[in-house]
Amino acid sequence: MYRSHNCGELRISNAGQEVTLAGWVQRARKLGGMTFVDLRDRYGITQLVVEATADAALVETASSLGREYVIQVKGKVVERQSKNPKMETGDIEIIVSAINILNKSVTPPFTIEENSDGGEDLRAKYRYLDLRRPPLQKALALRHRLAQEIRTYLDQQGFMEIETPYLIKSTPEGARDFVVPSRMNPGQFYALPQSPQTFKQLLMVAGYDRYFQIVRCFRDEDLRADRQPEFTRIDCEMSFVEQEDVLNTFEGMMRQMFKNAVGVDIPNPIPRMSWYDAMDFYGSDKPDIRFDMKIHEITSVAQGHGFSVFDSCEYVGAIAATGCAEYTRKEIDALTEWVKRPQVGAKGLVYIKCNADGTYKSSVDKFYTPEEVKAMADAAEAKAGDLVLILCGGRRKAQTMLGVLRIEMGNRLGYRDPKVFAPLWIVDFPLFEWDDETNRFYAMHHPFTAPKPEHLDWYYSDKKEDLERVCANAYDFVLNGTELGGGSIRIHEAAMQERMFEILGITKEDADYKFGFIINAFKFGAPPHGGLAFGFDRVCALFGGQETIRDYIAFPKNNQGRDVMIDSPSAIDQVQMDELMIVSTAQNTEE
Ligand code: AMO
Repeated sequence: MYRSHNCGELRISNAGQEVTLAGWVQRARKLGGMTFVDLRDRYGITQLVVEATADAALVETASSLGREYVIQVKGKVVERQSKNPKMETGDIEIIVSAINILNKSVTPPFTIEENSDGGEDLRAKYRYLDLRRPPLQKALALRHRLAQEIRTYLDQQGFMEIETPYLIKSTPEGARDFVVPSRMNPGQFYALPQSPQTFKQLLMVAGYDRYFQIVRCFRDEDLRADRQPEFTRIDCEMSFVEQEDVLNTFEGMMRQMFKNAVGVDIPNPIPRMSWYDAMDFYGSDKPDIRFDMKIHEITSVAQGHGFSVFDSCEYVGAIAATGCAEYTRKEIDALTEWVKRPQVGAKGLVYIKCNADGTYKSSVDKFYTPEEVKAMADAAEAKAGDLVLILCGGRRKAQTMLGVLRIEMGNRLGYRDPKVFAPLWIVDFPLFEWDDETNRFYAMHHPFTAPKPEHLDWYYSDKKEDLERVCANAYDFVLNGTELGGGSIRIHEAAMQERMFEILGITKEDADYKFGFIINAFKFGAPPHGGLAFGFDRVCALFGGQETIRDYIAFPKNNQGRDVMIDSPSAIDQVQMDELMIVSTAQNTEE
């Protein structure tokens, strides 16, 4: 036995016991002849003391300890003179009687403590050292806990965990595939799954009516704080269900996860909002409802007064930023520049200050009478002290810009407390999105998503405006402005599926080539089914109160999709290339 206890375990009740601990030296310091050592493992830190009066060899060994040495110590637990209430083991220390150096360490490139002095790149290169730090250990412990909660809940609900393959054919999720060349089939490639979508539907055909998997997915897309090229999802599918059954089942899972992993009670039932309301009032299909500050359409009061910018737009909308009427000219100019950045894309920003004395001051005073300015502020439901921020343009585009501005103002005003959890379901999505550039419809989710039964007439209509009105039997789970998951009731009848391909302009040959196996399988008695998937990394990060998922993944990639620790991706040698029949046209930048 290397150790009798771990480094986070001993308390005042253990005083007087002889113990053996093992771990890493976080710090060793000398103080008046005594040596104090902080011994760390993933459970915590325990203070060791080598007394000045201890045997000379022991004192010398203690003096030789460097950072991250791995040691085993024997000693006696005693009550500390000066207790440290910030540490769980802060009431005790160990009077050391023997030290065994199990392994030395070279000096680590950064401090391995709660807060490190290492930059992001350096810590990524030495990820295994960064992982020794308590915040990352806590993050991975939370991830583990949540995975256990999910498995327990879904098992109790009769779900079976079934693995699906990684070397597959392109999936219909809309991102770019990562592909793997096949040596045995020269010139042919596997695609790594963007999701197990087709397989989980085939499992329904096969009769496994409640399936789940905590599974890796791969998408070659631009990366952000909440996106990794390989990420994990909680993937689920159920047969003989309607939307309501799916939502209820997974509300239950979320409720249990919140309760058992972070001790939070979330609303019961979780609120639902239609996609149309989400766009109209929050300018986003993933609204953060921790705060109000809704978007208001003010087109009718803003137009018709000679201000051509508003008059020429389809839509004018506003938010009332609480208590921001005090913003200075400089602050408003900075905010105007902010909305003009390409990430937001506004051409300009109109404001109305609703002064505390009941007067109004706007950037468009020369076009509007004071009454008209007040009418616009009222339409935005502004109160005295608020700053009304107005953007215009095409309806959805302007709403989206206002949505981004709303989040920014929410951040500035401290309305986005990561300890507050405001989940909601977004429902009633449009089934199709029209794209002017390619002059065709795209599936808003994927081409297996079923239309709402009450919209079937529109679904089979040839008119564009009818098709635009069709709602999908689809739903997203949103938490604090992040889309955590999404899914749908699927099409299970051949005729409806063919119609879908027809609307999307996918030819029969194309459909057969891409999805022939699933179209064929559906001819053998596909049950009605539906499901959803949660982004597990995002679930972990949000439960942990963070927006970036990287800390919740043991070995993540950086923003360029690189693993800087193992230096991947990297070139492969010519022999491997030849075996795979691949000819490189890429310039090796390192040469
Ligand atoms: P969707 O594409 O919405 O649905 O993905 C489901 C959830 O996966 C997470 N997610 C990601 N997380 C990290 N990095 C990424 N690159 C990334 N991409 C997606 C999100 C998202 O909500 N097959 C459907 C599900 C279904 O219909 O059952 C699907 O893949 O949290």
